[in-house]
Amino acid sequence: MSGEEELHNSPIGVFDSGVGGLTVAREIMRQLPNERIVYFGDTARVPYGNKSKETVTKFSRQIVRFLQTQQVKAIVVACNTASAYALDELEKEVDIPIVGVVKPGARAAISATQNGKIGVVATEATISSGIYNRYIQENNPGAQVLGKACPLFVPLVEEGLWEDPVTEEIARRYLTELIDVGIDTLILGCTHYPMIRSTVGKIMGDQVTLVNPAYETARELKGLLREKGLESEHRPGLGTELYRFFVSDAADKFQKFANSILTYGILSAKVINIEEY
Ligand code: DGL
Repeated sequence: MSGEEELHNSPIGVFDSGVGGLTVAREIMRQLPNERIVYFGDTARVPYGNKSKETVTKFSRQIVRFLQTQQVKAIVVACNTASAYALDELEKEVDIPIVGVVKPGARAAISATQNGKIGVVATEATISSGIYNRYIQENNPGAQVLGKACPLFVPLVEEGLWEDPVTEEIARRYLTELIDVGIDTLILGCTHYPMIRSTVGKIMGDQVTLVNPAYETARELKGLLREKGLESEHRPGLGTELYRFFVSDAADKFQKFANSILTYGILSAKVINIEEY
């Protein structure tokens, strides 16, 4: 195989603080079926959403170093918190394409809104970074952006309470102020939130467009690979491991969650010591 062919067939590195980024991996699997994926979930150090910028950047750097040992041709930061806090630094440090989830989500919201009132639900870190606000204002200075941290959503999703009355009650409390402001577009700015999309949609009503950055990120990645001439030309043959999963702890729990959201059953997740990278 020539060097160039090898590069085309190299995997995409995808990482998150844990299982949430699987919603992004799932979209990449759907939209780019020829691409191989190496996924890393930082299950030992999750959540990132309540940690400092310094800590999230340090963790993200270690993961990028690990992914580079897997000869990835591009990296997707499939975590809103890491995209908000670390992406700018990572972009300066790596020489392969790197995509976060925030910009694609913000762009989709800008094109969806009719009344210029956009809501963002996300972790405390993502909201306090003000990143969605910044990107949206840069591209549409007239837009009004209202952020709301929803820290209870992540544990509710991880407990599998996706359509439970408890989740609905909590979502109602979080979302009421966004409804009162009259937003017409809501960004699901945390990797876990697409799992409770129907509960959120029920509360917000049909007139509010829900934006899933996972979908937009996979689209952006597709465009970027095409532009750089890095697309895999055909589906890897039998015997080639299409998707590989690594975690920093609790592989069984990860596998169980992954198998509940991916149509492709994951065979195994390998535990690595991420502190070594
Ligand atoms: N993956 C994180 C995000 O998208 C949510 C979970 C966490 O707090 O680590 O912001």
